[in-house]
Amino acid sequence: MVEKSEIRRRVSQSFKNMDEAVYLRSSAALHKHLKSSELWERAQVIGITVATNQEVATMPLILSALQEGKRVALPAVDKGGHMLHFYFIDDLTDIQTGFAGIKEPRRANEKQVNSDDIDLLIVPGFAFTNDGYRIGYGGGYYDRFLANWNGITCSFVFPFQTNIAFPVEEHDIPVQYLVCEDGLRKC
Ligand SMILES: Nc1ncnc2c1ncn2[C@@H]1O[C@H](COP(=O)(O)OP(=O)(O)OP(=O)(O)O)[C@@H](O)[C@H]1O
Ligand SMILES: [Mg+2]
Repeated sequence: MVEKSEIRRRVSQSFKNMDEAVYLRSSAALHKHLKSSELWERAQVIGITVATNQEVATMPLILSALQEGKRVALPAVDKGGHMLHFYFIDDLTDIQTGFAGIKEPRRANEKQVNSDDIDLLIVPGFAFTNDGYRIGYGGGYYDRFLANWNGITCSFVFPFQTNIAFPVEEHDIPVQYLVCEDGLRKC
């Protein structure tokens, strides 16, 4: 079986090989699947990251959520505690560029989110098994977060990110839904 690190490298390369127009169009198709689902309709508070160009795009979805009057919560990384803390953003001026170019929410006290208030969490990841097990950036941040969280989780995946076999570890936590080319798939 292929190592997690090798899978991260391969998926990352597949994103780099993708034509930008195709990338944007394919991302939009996945957004459309989610937005026409009950998961989206019912969610008042969406937890989401600003994707890098090596993940399915998320910015258009963040803008849709804000336009529809949903509340949008972005994670900030607490390196010392190896934890994620979410903050609400009201508009794009609440997003700043942090370590390694990663987009983060402005960490204002009054914008702190109680994570139990998040209804739907869009979980980032490089690669997924058909059961929703995922390979993330390798920090274990989402595995730790999801270990103590009970909301609904989903991830966006392009075809080269799914149906990938890798050694699942005891601490790995799967997502509940994958949003793929052909629609929402319950894991
Ligand atoms: N619940 C946990 N408690 C303590 N350590 C954990 C927990 N979950 C993961 N870890 C540690 O985090 C490290 C990275 O885990 P892993 O390789 O699964 O990262 P990942 O799933 O790619 O990252 P992420 O969850 O941030 O997307 C591992 O060394 C693992 O031991
Ligand atoms: Mg993991």
